[in-house]
Amino acid sequence: MARDPRRRGPARLGQIRFFGSVVPADSFREDVIAGLSQPQKALPPKYFYDARGSRLFEAICRLREYYPTRSELELTRAHLDEIRRFAGTGCTLIEYGSGASIKSRLLIEALRPSAYIAVDISADALRGAAAKLRRRFAWLDILAVHGDFSQPLKIPVAQGRGRRVVYFPGSTIGNLTPADAHAFLRMTRGQVGARGAMLVGVDLKKDANVLHAAYNDAKGVTAQFNRNLLRRINRELGADFQPRRFRHYAFYNAALGRIEMHLVSLAAQAVSVGSHRFSFDAGESIHTENSYKYAIGEFRALAASSGFSARKVWLDAKGLFSLHGLAAA
Ligand code: TRP
Repeated sequence: MARDPRRRGPARLGQIRFFGSVVPADSFREDVIAGLSQPQKALPPKYFYDARGSRLFEAICRLREYYPTRSELELTRAHLDEIRRFAGTGCTLIEYGSGASIKSRLLIEALRPSAYIAVDISADALRGAAAKLRRRFAWLDILAVHGDFSQPLKIPVAQGRGRRVVYFPGSTIGNLTPADAHAFLRMTRGQVGARGAMLVGVDLKKDANVLHAAYNDAKGVTAQFNRNLLRRINRELGADFQPRRFRHYAFYNAALGRIEMHLVSLAAQAVSVGSHRFSFDAGESIHTENSYKYAIGEFRALAASSGFSARKVWLDAKGLFSLHGLAAA
């Protein structure tokens, strides 16, 4: 049994519990049909993360061109003492979209939370991450919640002790529209209470070429990840997309401050999803994702309008990525 070196006496073994699935199966079909029925066809990005999609996303995070993961890891390591002073130790640490929980390991080591609550839409990613954390931090209480954080979610937060700190890294907040990000921050503010805090990873505005490369890698992993959504729709909803007849397209929309990802139909074609039929013109796109970029001041204003006061911000050495420390206002 691993010992917690900071405790006296016999080491206490943490508990691990799973809360699952709060994602209704029907909503996938409904969301896909509604999304493809719009004038600008669109699909919700949360459905990227089936088992293969989660693996492809981990591969994206290792790409040379994809700086956000490396920058965020670097800045977290570099400022860990200050992050600990800001968030405190012994808190209940809640992470949304925890994926492989790689960055969280640094925080768990530094903050020694009384409990770690991981929320992710991919059951496979969640199980894998929880098993690894278990081996590394035997003392830690882990609650793995299989869920969709874009919906109000009944997380058993009451289980933890201490201050509630929500960790939301990876610029996942950038995948929400500013209006949805505002609503999400407000909901989180309610969840953490008057003593709570938040650590939010936010990608910064920068040279459009750097942004462009990050979402158009030379090996085409991002393209595979994007097209995997069509494979998933085929498999789970009995559709007949031919993923090769769609091209990955990502560009920086400077007016809206966001990367947009699309799948562009290479030819005029029709696709069936169950009994529904959708036709595509050549060059017509399905909008699959946004990734908003925020200057420091812009994000602080968004946080302030959502009931948080922006107390701290940490950057990597190149100034590509930010981690904001927000306290309940
Ligand atoms: N939060 C990540 C981002 O906006 C998600 C992401 C990275 C992503 N690369 C992607 C989503 C490629 C879809 C496709 O950067």
